[in-house]
Amino acid sequence: MYVCVCNGHSDRDIKRIAQSGASCARDVYIQLGKPIRCGRCVEMAEQLVQEVHESTVDSLQTSGSRA
Ligand code: FES
Repeated sequence: MYVCVCNGHSDRDIKRIAQSGASCARDVYIQLGKPIRCGRCVEMAEQLVQEVHESTVDSLQTSGSRA
């Protein structure tokens, strides 16, 4: 699904970049090569970045508890 209509960024694009280490929507957009324009998508993009980071922390904690 498209999150950013101005730049054509999808939820998959945003999650992929967040998984590679981007810490916020602004960083994601910079790495995708197109900056934030109108800003209507930022809140949703930030939520996606947070979801990725929370799931990463959860998986690290889960794998850590097995060791
Ligand atoms: S919808 Fe993303 S900058 Fe406009």
